[in-house]
Amino acid sequence: MNFKKTAVALALFGFTSASIAQATFSFVAQSDMKAPSHVVFVDDLENLDGAAARLNTASEGQLLKLLALNDFETKLGHVQHLQMVAGLGSLLVIGSKDDNGISASELQDLGGIIASSLYSTTKTVDVAVHIDNLTLTDTTLFTPSALIASGYHMRDYSFDKYKTKKDEGKSTVTLVTQNAEMAENHYQNDLKYVAQGIHMARDIATEPGNNMYPEVFADKIKAAFSGIDNVKVKVLDVRDMEKYNMGALLGVGKGSVHDPRLVIIEYLGGDKNTAPIALAGKGITFDTGGISLKDNDGMWAMKSDLAGASAVAGTMHAIANRGEKINVIGIMAMAENMPGASAIRPGDVLDTMKGTTIEIMSTDAEGRLVLADAVYYVQQEYKPSMLLNIATLTGSAARALSDEYAAVITRDFELSTQMMEVGKRSGEHVWPLPLHANHFEQIKSPIADIKNSGAGNPGASIAAAVIATFVDESLPWVHLDIAGVDWLSEDIDVSPKGSQGWGVRFMDQVVREQVK
Ligand code: BES
Ligand code: ZN
Ligand code: ZN
Repeated sequence: MNFKKTAVALALFGFTSASIAQATFSFVAQSDMKAPSHVVFVDDLENLDGAAARLNTASEGQLLKLLALNDFETKLGHVQHLQMVAGLGSLLVIGSKDDNGISASELQDLGGIIASSLYSTTKTVDVAVHIDNLTLTDTTLFTPSALIASGYHMRDYSFDKYKTKKDEGKSTVTLVTQNAEMAENHYQNDLKYVAQGIHMARDIATEPGNNMYPEVFADKIKAAFSGIDNVKVKVLDVRDMEKYNMGALLGVGKGSVHDPRLVIIEYLGGDKNTAPIALAGKGITFDTGGISLKDNDGMWAMKSDLAGASAVAGTMHAIANRGEKINVIGIMAMAENMPGASAIRPGDVLDTMKGTTIEIMSTDAEGRLVLADAVYYVQQEYKPSMLLNIATLTGSAARALSDEYAAVITRDFELSTQMMEVGKRSGEHVWPLPLHANHFEQIKSPIADIKNSGAGNPGASIAAAVIATFVDESLPWVHLDIAGVDWLSEDIDVSPKGSQGWGVRFMDQVVREQVK
């Protein structure tokens, strides 16, 4: 890992209007206990330790009595609000018992729990979080207080640009920890950028379709990445794409008044001669289904059908701003899928950059089409050592795995199991679905090379098979279907409901683990 201070005021310019990260964080070794609110952790009521033990002594045993009175449970994440213990205004006591030790993502969850608990009563928070008695798993790369700060930062998000009255809280979070200097470094030069990348992804995926279409996306990416070292943004417009014969990506955009774009963020922070990792995102700025029109129920949520692309952008933001010593290419295939007089129809045959043809069975199976040209292009132009796709691709993946896991599909099961481990380490979990020879059989077309959907089940695998025909068989390839996981109908610890920016932490972790 390396840390590098980079000014990001400019970098964030394009996005500051939608989300306001409300809190500022500082790290200190000792607290004067003057903050109006405090947080302490308790994992064993019989054996209080750390700040909780000191408070209990200072309050002559009041803390334990109040906890008993409230039937306090020590289980991880359980929260108890108390007032006027040892003269402190407000006190949050949080359970921290975990027999396996607390993991990095659980620390981020605790940070999120602190933010949501405090914000439930006020938008202006001044809190000291005392971290001297947490039992950790030994795999944590970062200091616990930096992870707690990052989880708080992740949760500290609201999309209120269209509200005339905004939540304008200004909060101060002080993390009291022995290794304050190292924690500050971990947060300020690394984890902060991941949280900002997540907020960037949420901003893009929450923006309504009337204000977020391919051209706007491309402009925002250019603005957000200008001035960051080792970054170049390239945008292919319709004429460029015509030169490459990208009939699939162009085809999806045909029904819309907003032309498609292929947006590429090149980040070359590593050795010149080392092949990059490629991250490819589906960027449908609104998916009506096209001529194969969707039902109106829930169609509004298809404004977030670019969540794969927004997660790629957020990940690139984190990697580039911390100056990771690696080469990464982010490629985002942007189009709006609308019905219209010039829209593609079921039965149409489209050309692709690869030179093969695709017969359209459903214009609503458009994600695989835009990705087909994008993944082919990125392989031709950049010869990556690994390719990862991320897409809100199929209802089928969501039905199979609900919202606990994104689907991961690979040609090599070993790679899928490695991705499951990355999922555990990042806090964003994946579960494998198969890719079988029969899935390729099902996409054979009588009149073209392939068709864009099969007769029926299993939809997520068939979608992956379509994309797989554009991916070199010898290339390590990871396909993530996030249709079921990105959009939250309820809050989770590290995110309010709505788009959670799923994939930024996962892809960030994939990249970290590739740095030599
Ligand atoms: N964008 C949708 C998939 C989706 C569904 C994302 C629910 C998020 C939540 C995708 O383009 C789509 O419509 N897929 C179809 C494919 C079918 C027509 C073969 C699907 O999954 O039903
Ligand atoms: Zn669709
Ligand atoms: Zn879609």
